[in-house]
Amino acid sequence: MLKNKKILLAVCGSIAFYKAFEILSLLKKQGADVYVALSDGALEFCSVSGFEALSEHKILSSQTQNWQDGVNHIAYSKMDLVLIAPASVNTINKLTAGICDNVFMQTLIAASHVPLVVAPAANNNMIEHFATQNSLEILKKNGALVVEPVLKTLACGDIGKGGLASHEVIVEAAIKRLSRPLFADKKVVITGGATTEKIDDVRAITNFSSGKMARALARAFYYAGAEVKLLASFETANEPFLSLKFSSSSELLELCKSECEEANLLVMCAAVSDFVPTKIDGKIKKEDVGESLNLSLKKNVDILQSLKEFKCKKIGFKLEISSESALKSARSMLEKKGLDAVCLNILGEKNCFASEQNEVNFITRGGETLLPLASKDEIAGRIVELAANL
Ligand SMILES: Cc1cc2nc3c(=O)[nH]c(=O)nc-3n(C[C@H](O)[C@H](O)[C@H](O)COP(=O)(O)O)c2cc1C
Repeated sequence: MLKNKKILLAVCGSIAFYKAFEILSLLKKQGADVYVALSDGALEFCSVSGFEALSEHKILSSQTQNWQDGVNHIAYSKMDLVLIAPASVNTINKLTAGICDNVFMQTLIAASHVPLVVAPAANNNMIEHFATQNSLEILKKNGALVVEPVLKTLACGDIGKGGLASHEVIVEAAIKRLSRPLFADKKVVITGGATTEKIDDVRAITNFSSGKMARALARAFYYAGAEVKLLASFETANEPFLSLKFSSSSELLELCKSECEEANLLVMCAAVSDFVPTKIDGKIKKEDVGESLNLSLKKNVDILQSLKEFKCKKIGFKLEISSESALKSARSMLEKKGLDAVCLNILGEKNCFASEQNEVNFITRGGETLLPLASKDEIAGRIVELAANL
């Protein structure tokens, strides 16, 4: 997601300094080209060589600045993103006052037009101080994304909201700050995973949908600024968006009805059973059945069709196992269910159930856009761009 983005990781003097190594590694894993600057405070906690081991570029600090080698505040301010993590109270307050009394502060001030993410970590009283609170507000008003510190027992022993957010949350914030806010202030509901329909109290019919595409979509819409609600059949811990769990298609339908009232867009990615058994109370006993059990299945309610009266835009997913007549049936789904777009997904060797990749044909009344085989994250990003034009 951060492929070839030049990011300056600015590390301050906090006991959470060691978490900057994890942040640096994760940024690199996401494809970012990471530069590191250490504050004077950080130099009290760690050495330049520790970061040299992980960074491909020279480390900028009061000890290492060198105009001949291009290790200076101007060169290190020309970035796609500046990420201050951990951000000390001292640096936060100096930054909003425009103080540049060392090379670290000079770099942050010189990067005034660069998107900024600030992840504070400090004793909760230091963060709650009016000066710090005012500074954080000023930073937000000027476009910075502030990653809320977390409630925990802090290094000093106090319990408070001052712990550095996890490296995953901080890197997600970096992606969000760099993404186009195509869905700012918009409410997006995404459904994902497989429905489970009870046969009796111990057995069920389900399908092989993994929910990976829905999770990628939820992240992509979140990065684009949407208020995302993921209605999922699977567990979703540590995600930056809200999620609600469903099991059966009737539960999913009820959730959709209550969530679509306020939504601007519904992306129906969940795989819903087309046929459901008539549930039998208790347990069907093997001894009572004999050699074969005939299940009676009835046609299930069509969730998208049932949501026709809701005003939000709607995108459906259509899964086919062969390309023959797939386009025709996707177009008929678009019309019949009153959708704004259909993501046609023909299963192949590389985009089978639970795979990391997908290939999608994004079909609207106006035309088709083929999104060739790519990671589900990339496909989700493209769907967000196309959905913004609906
Ligand atoms: C053991 C220790 C831990 C500290 N942890 C933090 C911290 O987590 N957050 C913070 O804002 N300041 C912390 N400080 C104070 C800063 O290091 C100090 O304000 C320093 O001037 C910050 O410099 P900088 O902004 O250049 O990084 C700590 C100080 C000590 C001695």
